[in-house]
Order: sequence, then C-alpha cells, then structure tokens
Amino acid sequence: MGIIDRLNLDDPRLLESLTGKVEQAKALLNSIATDYAPAALANSLSAEDMVLTDLIHIIDVPIEIFSLDTGRLPAETYELMAETETRYGRKLTFYYPRHDLVESYTREHGINAFYESVELRKGCCFVRKVEPLQRALAGKKAWITGMRAQQSATRDGLPVQQFDEAHGLEKFNPLADWSEREVWAYIRQNRVPYNALHDRFYPSIGCAPCTRAITPGEDVRAGRWWWENPATKECGLHVKDALGGVSAKANLREVEVKA
Ligand code: ADX
Ligand code: SF4
Repeated sequence: MGIIDRLNLDDPRLLESLTGKVEQAKALLNSIATDYAPAALANSLSAEDMVLTDLIHIIDVPIEIFSLDTGRLPAETYELMAETETRYGRKLTFYYPRHDLVESYTREHGINAFYESVELRKGCCFVRKVEPLQRALAGKKAWITGMRAQQSATRDGLPVQQFDEAHGLEKFNPLADWSEREVWAYIRQNRVPYNALHDRFYPSIGCAPCTRAITPGEDVRAGRWWWENPATKECGLHVKDALGGVSAKANLREVEVKA
C-alpha cells in the first residue's frame, strides 16, 4: 500500500479546505513573481516542493526552480529530478558543493563523519547545503520553500512570509499552514510525480546516509538524522535570525582556514 492509500484522502472536508488553500498559494506565487523578481523556489524534491513546482507550472510565472545536489542524495531523488524535468518541460538549476571544501572536510574528518557529533554533522550540511544555498540566493529578492509548521517542533508557528536576516532577502513558505494530508491530496488530484521512497515509509527525505524509514506512529521527521535530539534537527538552511548568518560565515572561514 502506497502513501496515498494510507492517508484516507477522500474526506470531503479535506478536499474543500484544499481548494481554498490552493487558490491562496497560487495568488501568493503570482504576487511573489510580480513584486519580488527575481524569485526562486528551493526544490528538495520533497512532496511539498513538488506541489509548489506543479503550482508554478500551472500559473506559468517566471520563478526559477533550483536544487542543491549535495552529492549524497538517494538514487530515487535523482530519478525524480529527471522525471520532473520531463514532466514540466523545464530544467532545474543545480547547485553543487565547492569541491575544495568537500575535499578538506572529508580529508580532515572522514567520509561519514556526520554520525560522530552534531558539530560535524552541521559542518557537513554547511559544506554540502548551506554554502551552495548562499550562491543560489545571490542576486535574488525572495526565495520560496516547501516548509510546513506541522513538520516539526522547530517549525511550530512558521509564518507564510518572513524576512530572512541570515541571507538578506524575503522568504516565503506558501504551504506553512498545509497539513500532510492536504499535500498528498493535491499530489493525487494533480498526478504530481513524487519520490518513490515515500511509498516505502520515508515521509521526509534528505541525504541518503542521514535519512531512514519510519515506523507507523513515529513523527514525520523521525527518520532524518535519527541519532540526534529533535531540537538539533535542522541543517542550517533555515536559521531563524541573523546569528545564523554570522555563524554560517564563521563556519565557512573555519573550513577555509583548514583547507
Ligand atoms: S532540512 O533543513 O531538513 O534539510 P527539509 O528537507 O525539511 O529541510 O526541507 C525544507 C525546505 O528546504 C524544502 O522545502 C526546500 O525548500 C529547502 N531544501 C531543503 N533541502 C534542499 C535541497 N537539497 N535543495 C533545494 N532546497 C532544499
Ligand atoms: Fe551531510 Fe547528512 Fe547534511 Fe547531507 S544531510 S549534507 S550527508 S550531514
């Protein structure tokens, strides 16, 4: 049984609330394209990011769609990247980690050092995701993510719009108030392609070594960095205030000094 069959998506109240939220999300994406050009969607190929990709395609607005290829993603994510390009007839823009930073990190700490400490895990996320994100956002007026408030304790109260102090631009989370079932109802309704791992009990997918399947009843992000305390489970892309930017820069200096 796949994820779509497991979630009981035929509830009429669910479909009604979804209709309203889809209209709101379309209106928001339209206004971002007009008022914050150039804007970009950060697409991790998650179910949420696929919904946003589909909406951007339907309303046909000039919003760039980029993905950070960490080099450690699951094979299924690469398959979905290719399928997405075919389905929507457009290229995703890929950003890669700086080879010098990856080389110095693995030389110093080892190939799977992220299991050893939160600090080393954050260092890997910095080199493979945060630094490439900084380049992806350079010159943009706004970025769009697929984050939802219900995804984790660290995202509780997530606003639809906020100023991202760390990166110095506006940040939009159009699905902030969507439920997991609304996301999947949209995917079913619009036949949106999705990651094959979702049907194998992976509700949240990141890099292959840092993601595993969950058991029924577990939190949706329980399979991400499962060896860590829930409070530390953010990769650094979504820091809450300017301090994150400062520490990100310090982190880069540290990596560069060691390189
Ligand atoms: S993370 O902090 O745990 O890695 P998560 O996987 O929930 O974040 O993704 C939240 C949002 O961050 C996604 O909806 C997407 O907008 C952005 N994001 C995360 N990983 C990537 C990626 N590899 N490429 C592009 N965007 C990403
Ligand atoms: Fe590295 Fe894991 Fe972070 Fe991917 S999720 S960048 S492999 S620590």
